[in-house]
Amino acid sequence: MTTRLAINGQVYSVDDDPGTPLLYVLRDTLKLNGAKFGCGLGQCGACTVMQDGYAIVSCLMPIGVVAGSQIKTIEGLGSRAHPGVLQQAFIDEQAA
Ligand code: FES
Repeated sequence: MTTRLAINGQVYSVDDDPGTPLLYVLRDTLKLNGAKFGCGLGQCGACTVMQDGYAIVSCLMPIGVVAGSQIKTIEGLGSRAHPGVLQQAFIDEQAA
């Protein structure tokens, strides 16, 4: 079954099972590696992405649930050449 995902303004069609966590699809299928695997339990926030403007933990969110939503990952905030506001703040403060 194909699932359509709108991520960072681009639509992707993926053949992963609709029950697959979004984090796995982001990292393994789409190679968007900004969201990280930390605990896998929804507790650490390393996998956080935005769904329709709200933060969600992608390790617990099946792709079948977020299909039709607008997903934004850290890659969607800006680029190396043109960092977004949050990225620039991390650069300015030398934050990790
Ligand atoms: Fe820790 Fe998702 S990996 S909350």
